Amino acid sequence: MEKSGHVIRAKPPPAVGPFVESHSLSALAEQEAGCTRCLLYKNATQVVPGEGSPQSRVLLIGEQPGDQEDLSGRPFVGPSGKLLDIALERAGVARDKCFVTNAVKHFKFEQRGKRRLHKKPDASEIDACRWWLDRERALVRPGLIVALGATAIRGALGRSETVSRLRGEIIDLDGGAQFLATVHPSSLLRLKDESDKREAWRGFLADLRKIAHWIEKDDALRAAG
Ligand code: URA
Repeated sequence: MEKSGHVIRAKPPPAVGPFVESHSLSALAEQEAGCTRCLLYKNATQVVPGEGSPQSRVLLIGEQPGDQEDLSGRPFVGPSGKLLDIALERAGVARDKCFVTNAVKHFKFEQRGKRRLHKKPDASEIDACRWWLDRERALVRPGLIVALGATAIRGALGRSETVSRLRGEIIDLDGGAQFLATVHPSSLLRLKDESDKREAWRGFLADLRKIAHWIEKDDALRAAG
């Protein structure tokens, strides 16, 4: 894939151990199920590992599981996931070409009566969970890593950057993969004003079309050997 000329160096993840490396995504998911690297496991129903083929060329990173993901054990199956599916389809990206995961793998929430209200993971939780994201990256070896929102950016790069600074530009990462940041689909769901919604939707689709374009070029390069 042609280089963008702009390289980002990701911060190395914190060293931990002892740990036996998993050689498959299913073995990794079993290890994730026993994770106590931060306290979020205490209240969540279950861990939500990434999902998709180990041959995926694109890694899509969200923030953390929501209520429905926590209950089902699968990423992006709730309202944000449904919107993401529509947007990917409109942009010409097959979800099954992507490995879909989250920066943080347990649902963080605040209980209000019967409702569980989403709470943003903090930097220490994101950094603790990078351990798993990096293992997923090592097993899938994607050519393009897409961060949906600021939490995903921190999970991917190991440091905080605003979405507005990185958004929409394909950047080379240390180690060969490329990187694209865009907004999280839930930010579109929160908008009230119709014209803001239309503009945000257009911008999101424009970013996702860059993934479709990247996949086309990647397929062509692979076909050419
Ligand atoms: N939001 C996310 O970031 N990930 C999910 O899996 C669901 C909602």
